[in-house]
Amino acid sequence: MQSTMEKTLAAKNRLAEVNRILEKNNYSESRLIPILQEVQEVYKYLSKEIISYVATAIGVPPSRVYGVATFYAHFALTPKGKYVFRLCDGTACHVKKSHSILNALYERLNLSPEKNTSDDLRYTIETVSCLGACGLAPVMLMNDEVHGQVTPEQALAIVDRLEDAEKNA
Ligand code: FES
Repeated sequence: MQSTMEKTLAAKNRLAEVNRILEKNNYSESRLIPILQEVQEVYKYLSKEIISYVATAIGVPPSRVYGVATFYAHFALTPKGKYVFRLCDGTACHVKKSHSILNALYERLNLSPEKNTSDDLRYTIETVSCLGACGLAPVMLMNDEVHGQVTPEQALAIVDRLEDAEKNA
């Protein structure tokens, strides 16, 4: 558990990082997309507050930044878990029963399409369109790890591994 002081320090460091990103991009509206990409890497998502902050820094209305953030699927406007499972729901993966993996994860993590991030912000489950690796169907990403020909059992074993890692953290 982080103490209040540690949290304040972490928040300050993140904001300093955002300022660095803005400076590096010359506070330029034409650099808005790369700015938002990097800011999202810092915060993992784009909150209303950070959207306003970026808008003020580059001198545009927040609605303009919000419009860009909502237009691109790449940007997340709500917090995501530390571990993000992305199940491919393209045709090849669908045919190979990707939904059984999805359902196994939903059940294990007590999540659903309506509530796809756990309250403790440890897990998020998303579906994505074809990942371009259909030969490995069904395909699943866990953060940057690619898992091909996954079974529900293997997906659950990954959750076990992550839980163990968290316990030992
Ligand atoms: S359909 Fe899943 S990788 Fe192409």
